Amino acid sequence: MDIEQTIFQRRSIRKYNEKPVEIEVIKKIIEAGTWAPSACNVQGWRFIVIDDPTVINEILKNGAAAFLKNVRQAILVIYNNQSDNDSYKDYIQSASACIENMLLMAHSYNVGTCWINFLPSKKKLRQILNIPDYFEPIALISLGYYDQKINEYKRKYTVDEIISFNDYEFDDHNLITVSKIKLRLKRLARKIYFLFPYKNILTKILNKVEKKFNN
Ligand SMILES: Cc1cc2nc3c(=O)[nH]c(=O)nc-3n(C[C@H](O)[C@H](O)[C@H](O)COP(=O)(O)O)c2cc1C
Repeated sequence: MDIEQTIFQRRSIRKYNEKPVEIEVIKKIIEAGTWAPSACNVQGWRFIVIDDPTVINEILKNGAAAFLKNVRQAILVIYNNQSDNDSYKDYIQSASACIENMLLMAHSYNVGTCWINFLPSKKKLRQILNIPDYFEPIALISLGYYDQKINEYKRKYTVDEIISFNDYEFDDHNLITVSKIKLRLKRLARKIYFLFPYKNILTKILNKVEKKFNN
């Protein structure tokens, strides 16, 4: 698979078949992550491979993307958060570069992945997986082989619509903007969800409204 095919044909996959992804392939995917650029070349990523159903269930129970219930293998990417570049959050940028490399390498092995950050609160996730406070949970990558045909869909914008030269000159009418009030309410709702003790009741409601994807 050449680089264009890998980039243009990768899609998020959320339904996997029974065949487990071999540990050698998982290691190759992780190795691809470690070849990403990282701020100050810190390479502060660590990878927690999760293949124990009780651990996956524990994550799910504490509030996470509903499709996780059918996931058997996943990798949590964590990154050393001891950074002085607070405004650009360089540890998140470095970890994100690493994750994208992983998704592309997985795709080249026909392994489907989904980048997940609808996850339990970071505090809870740290407790479940014994992550120290100097490591930041960044995202969970679910993975598996899959049978379904990948749905083709177009990108939302053409390159010409989202490029400007030398200053900000965009036709913002096309862009989705959320009002500040709506955004505050959504943030509050998220906080309440993670603080609410009877999460299973809320999760049932949330599963109904959670965005559904075809793949
Ligand atoms: C930061 C980030 C967080 C995401 N979190 C979730 C998630 O919690 N649940 C989910 O189903 N997909 C999640 N996704 C996947 C996106 O929904 C997906 O990339 C997007 O719909 C575009 O589809 P594509 O990856 O097939 O191109 C996430 C992607 C990113 C980059």
